[in-house]
Amino acid sequence: MAKDILVLGIESSCDETAAAVVKNGRQVLSNIISSQIVIHRQYGGVVPEIASRKHIEHILPVIDEALKQSHTTLAEIDAVAVTYGPGLVGALLVGLSAAKALAWAADKPLLGVNHLEGHVFANFVNDASLEPPFLALVVSGGHTALLHVTGYNSFKLLGQTRDDAAGEAFDKIARVMGLPYPGGPEIEKLALQGNPQAISFPRAMLADEPFAFSFSGMKSAVINYLHNEQQKGATVNFADVAASFQEAVTDVLVQKAIYALRQTGLKTIVLAGGVSANKVLQDKLAGAAAQVGAHLVHPTPILCTDNAVMIACRGYFMFQDGERSGWTLNADPALRFQ
Ligand code: KG4
Ligand code: ZN
Repeated sequence: MAKDILVLGIESSCDETAAAVVKNGRQVLSNIISSQIVIHRQYGGVVPEIASRKHIEHILPVIDEALKQSHTTLAEIDAVAVTYGPGLVGALLVGLSAAKALAWAADKPLLGVNHLEGHVFANFVNDASLEPPFLALVVSGGHTALLHVTGYNSFKLLGQTRDDAAGEAFDKIARVMGLPYPGGPEIEKLALQGNPQAISFPRAMLADEPFAFSFSGMKSAVINYLHNEQQKGATVNFADVAASFQEAVTDVLVQKAIYALRQTGLKTIVLAGGVSANKVLQDKLAGAAAQVGAHLVHPTPILCTDNAVMIACRGYFMFQDGERSGWTLNADPALRFQ
């Protein structure tokens, strides 16, 4: 039997300091996340300087706890995988410096992981039978993209957003409605009491580039609607606005994902990134995928948003492929898909 491979994952790209130990790329031995959400909430969004400072305070205790809960020592770890982009540069540097120091001191290979690829790989933990090829719809706070995952280490970007990411639109609209950061879960909660058909917001389908997305027009339409109603002195039904906006965003995401399934002939689609925690999106996409003979895989809620399990999982497949990062690896805040 092949030896078990243990990867220590480290993530600090935005406002979660996280570390995890994953066995053979699919089995979670520990998953520690120290969230700064309550700190940034008072400012309405992530304050980069504060994020860096909090990462510095938490990174070593979080790594210690991940090793402890997995009943593993650093000496038993086979590789250290760390997010090196995209994200906030100061935040990324904290995790990256810690990972380099540990890997160097313990004489372990270092693997720099693309955070967006990490989100996709969270699905390997949730579905033990998941194998490429499949389609991935990545919907996070900073990115919205359709990806053809052709192998464990090969991806083809089909299209991405031209402007706002889906999560960014959720966050901005929530902010205008006076809801706390992060806006996605708040809008989802409020929408439960609203009518998704109450207001028809525009859906940009971009016929010239069917795999691309644009959410800035929709976002402006929602904000203009709110301002106009308030100027008229009308009482705005925020639950209807939340439900109608969520309906519009998820319509676009689902229609484009189904078009991509048809075009590629793929039979599996995975959701990735924070917005994949949205139940309406999960349900609509699962239903539409079934109609074209495909099935949906999505992470459990804790693995939808930022975590280090997904980084360790991505790192495992890089490790198996013989990839190694050098000690000069630097943070790349604008890193894209390959
Ligand atoms: O992947 P993630 O944790 O961080 C980035 O890599 O960006 O995604 C965070 C984004 C935020 O915009 C947040 O509002 C959104 O994911 N989000 C949601 C939900 N949970 C988180 N959006 C819609 N519905 C949700 N339930
Ligand atoms: Zn993320």
